[in-house]
Order: sequence, then C-alpha cells, then structure tokens
Amino acid sequence: MNITYLSSIDELVEKGAALVAKSMKEAVSDRDQAMLVLSGGNTPRPVYERLAREPFGNTLPWDKTQIFFGDERMVPPDNPESNFRMACDALLDHIEIPPWNIHRIEGQDQPDVAAHWYDRQLREIGGPDAVPRFDLILLGLGPDGHTASLFPGTNVLEDRTHLAAPVHLPDDSQGVQHSQNRVTLTYPVINAARKIVFLVAGADKKQALDRVERGDETAPAARVKPVDGELLWLVVKS
Ligand code: 6PG
Repeated sequence: MNITYLSSIDELVEKGAALVAKSMKEAVSDRDQAMLVLSGGNTPRPVYERLAREPFGNTLPWDKTQIFFGDERMVPPDNPESNFRMACDALLDHIEIPPWNIHRIEGQDQPDVAAHWYDRQLREIGGPDAVPRFDLILLGLGPDGHTASLFPGTNVLEDRTHLAAPVHLPDDSQGVQHSQNRVTLTYPVINAARKIVFLVAGADKKQALDRVERGDETAPAARVKPVDGELLWLVVKS
C-alpha cells in the first residue's frame, strides 16, 4: 500500500490540497474536464478550506470541474450532518464554480429515491453502460473500516450493478455519529477512478488501518482497489 505518514493535520491539509489541485489541473489539461468526488466526514474539511484559499482558490479550473460526493447522510442540505453542507461551508460557497457543476445527493429525499437519481446522474456522465471514471475520489476511513457509506454488514458491499445505492446502517455501526440512512457510491464506481486518495487522521483509525494493510476484506476500505488507477493514503497517526 502506498501510505504516506504525516506528522500533523497541517501537513495532511497541505499535501491533500496540493494533490487535489494537481489532479484537477492535469485532468483539465488532458481532457478539458476534471471529475472530482468529495468525501464526507470531518477529516477532509480543513483540506477543502485550504483549497478555498491562495494559492488555490479561483486559480483552479472550477468552471471545468464536476463535483460529486462519495456519500451523503439522508438529511436536508442545510442540516449540520450533511456532507454537502460541510463541503459548501468549507469550499463550494467560497469559489466561483457554476452551480450546475455540483451534483448533490438529494439528502432530503427517501434513500432509494435519492440513490436512483444520483445513479442516473452518474450514468449520464459515464454513458448508459459505462461506469464513470473519476479523476480523483477522496475517501475517509471509519474506526470499523468503513469508507464512504460502505459499512460492514451492509448489502451494498456486494452491489455490482448500481453506481449509487441506499444504505441503512445497522444499529451497532461503530463510529457512526450521524444518520443511519445514507446513499453511497458503490465499489464499481470507486474502483474505476484514475486516482483514489484516503485522508485519515486519528488514533482511533489505527486498528482499521492495520486491517486494511493486512488485506482483511472484512474492512470495507480494504476492497477499494482501483482497476487501472492510483491508490494513495495520507495518514496522520496521532
Ligand atoms: C461520512 C463519510 C465517512 C467518513 C469516515 C471518516 O459520511 O461520514 O463518508 O465514510 O469518511 O467515517 O470520518 P472522519 O473523517 O470524520 O473520521
């Protein structure tokens, strides 16, 4: 595994923001468009805040960047638990990006309805049979080894037909502070990416990271294996 251990959150923020900026510029240079998936949770927030500031900010090609989300808690977009709201507060409200470039998972809807429409959006960009190939997917790691809303013990782990799916988290899901109803990208979309970067911080993730490093696929994050892409881990242990 390509793991970079960092000494602080500040270092993770600088490296994470630089990685996102580099991926965006390369994608726009090569294909005149960047396809980016943002992670939810707490760890990515300072990375997004950093991207809103110099030397990044509006020097990046946001007009040619499509923003999607790895998962969403099924709450309205103005709810403090919403991953969309976190991304807006930290980044999207502070840059010049066309609103139609932001593809929100409709958290206010029923999970199966929101998943259906998000799946449709993903198929529109990827073509009717193709799986969209994102330039960069950012992911986090939960203490139980989950990533996005691919949680242990959920049926979505075996879903190879949908691009996005509803998830109802078991009551005993570890490290779940928020909504038990989610919509998530599935492995086929995640593993089609050109680059996947995990942003991980906190001693509570050590056991999960050890499991992933051992290839223990009971940790859902261990099943993130890009078919033809790069997988990087930026980890702050403490
Ligand atoms: C979410 C995320 C989830 C998150 C991990 C790590 O909606 O919460 O998609 O997968 O990335 O739980 O969260 P932290 O970064 O807050 O530790």
